[in-house]
Amino acid sequence: MTSDPNRILVLDYGSQYTQLIARRVRELQVYCEIHPYDAADEVIARFAPKGIILSGGPASVDEEGAPGLPDSVLATGIPVLGICYGCQLLTHALGGRVVASNTREFGRATIGVGDGAGPLFHQVSEGTHVVWMSHSDRIAEVAPGFRVTATTDNGVPAAIAHESRPLFGVQFHPEVVHTPSGRELLASFLFGVCGCEPTWTVGNFIHDTIARLRAEVGPDEQVICGLSGGVDSVVAATLVHRAIGDRLHCIFVDNGVLRKGEAHQVVATFRDRLHLPLRAVDARDRFLGELSGVTDPEQKRKIIGRVFVEVFEEAARDVAGAKYLAQGTLYPDVIESVSFKGPSATIKSHHNVGGLPEKMKLSLIEPLRELFKDEVRQVGLALDLPEDVVWRQPFPGPGLAIRVLGEVTAEAVALLQEADAIVREELAALPEAREIWQSFAVLLPVRSVGVMGDSRTYENVCAIRAVSSVDGMTADWYPVPYATLGRISNRIINEVRGINRVVYDISSKPPATIEWE
Ligand code: XMP
Repeated sequence: MTSDPNRILVLDYGSQYTQLIARRVRELQVYCEIHPYDAADEVIARFAPKGIILSGGPASVDEEGAPGLPDSVLATGIPVLGICYGCQLLTHALGGRVVASNTREFGRATIGVGDGAGPLFHQVSEGTHVVWMSHSDRIAEVAPGFRVTATTDNGVPAAIAHESRPLFGVQFHPEVVHTPSGRELLASFLFGVCGCEPTWTVGNFIHDTIARLRAEVGPDEQVICGLSGGVDSVVAATLVHRAIGDRLHCIFVDNGVLRKGEAHQVVATFRDRLHLPLRAVDARDRFLGELSGVTDPEQKRKIIGRVFVEVFEEAARDVAGAKYLAQGTLYPDVIESVSFKGPSATIKSHHNVGGLPEKMKLSLIEPLRELFKDEVRQVGLALDLPEDVVWRQPFPGPGLAIRVLGEVTAEAVALLQEADAIVREELAALPEAREIWQSFAVLLPVRSVGVMGDSRTYENVCAIRAVSSVDGMTADWYPVPYATLGRISNRIINEVRGINRVVYDISSKPPATIEWE
């Protein structure tokens, strides 16, 4: 657990915005964790938060089986802020009355903040403020000891506060961007009401993590780390390296389905430039051999996952007595939450080093398990990692094998690498390049007729995919400017022998997925 004394607990009641609450708190440089509401008793005792935020949620406080307010939340005297469902729950639990509203409040509303609005609005200026509502229940009667501290222009209570205890509620969502003063409201709660200080900074995180890693690994043990070149594994490896030096052993596996020049680039950047102890294993033939004749997407994934574990295990055997495996697991993977989770994880089997730690009897080290992706990038920048590494797009474990549709051959991979390199190069040149979550080429298993000079051609079709996304769970196709699409198409058809047609994928997720297989 973090040694940062300024800790906030977010209790999750299933709102789609729960993670956003945590991110906003962290942006104000206060450490926080999300836990399911029914774990409150145990977590409060262990985590000793300075404040508790109750998230929103889809339930109604009156309905059967509605999630309740654990006793420990009020018993300890820790300040509480209830948001939406959390606000109704406070009211309901303390003897107020919540009713289904005739006017459903969805979307923008305006609230008035007067000089009696109290400590929750301490940093919010007096006057009217736009807020974002999404609920249909409302407070008909505040609980004894509470008063309404702000109302909407429809006369609906928008904020409540207890007269003498540090208990607050808001009917709107301060965590979303549509509530412009939400940041000031959260800051008032964290710094004014809870007495937190802004100690969750990148510098402190790096300093504490290195100290923790040193203590955890001890003075003699060896650590293994699978380095893919992606930002998570690189930041994790760099932190471990700063902590224990060359007792870290990174293994990079070239599986033959990486992007053009990638294997060379990973070695040149991490071993030669950043001096991470890196062993590169050339397993291209082995992977391509195992993939020969296989066309089913799931089978391709399984083969790559299995062969990766085999190759990694063989390479790791050379590190005598290694006891730990370092991984770049992030906080969203860790959150044990009742929040809505998309179905994508079960639609495709994702490959990682699953099963390795048990098989090799290694203990896991996960220095990033408290961080969101944007925080990992900030840590990467503070560690002086190159910008292209820090902003690298996610790349799937099975690599180009799931972007060469149908059978994966060395020739098809080489063809796709060339087309993909052109897509990457052209899109990287756009000023808005960082808005694109992923962009790549896909080689389709169809051929089409074309004409080049005076000759007929009968060659492959390549699709271009570019999407925007926050976390890969949902995605929108990205409107790449026509001029750029035109240049990409011209270049691929002229420069990549074997492709004579380029199409653009305009499907969003859902119902499509980001990758084609
Ligand atoms: P889909 O295609 O499911 O992809 O919309 C969502 C995100 O996950 C990545 N992806 C993978 N990552 N191993 C990975 O490490 C995999 O097997 C895998 N399959 C998809 C994909 O690139 C996107 O970012």
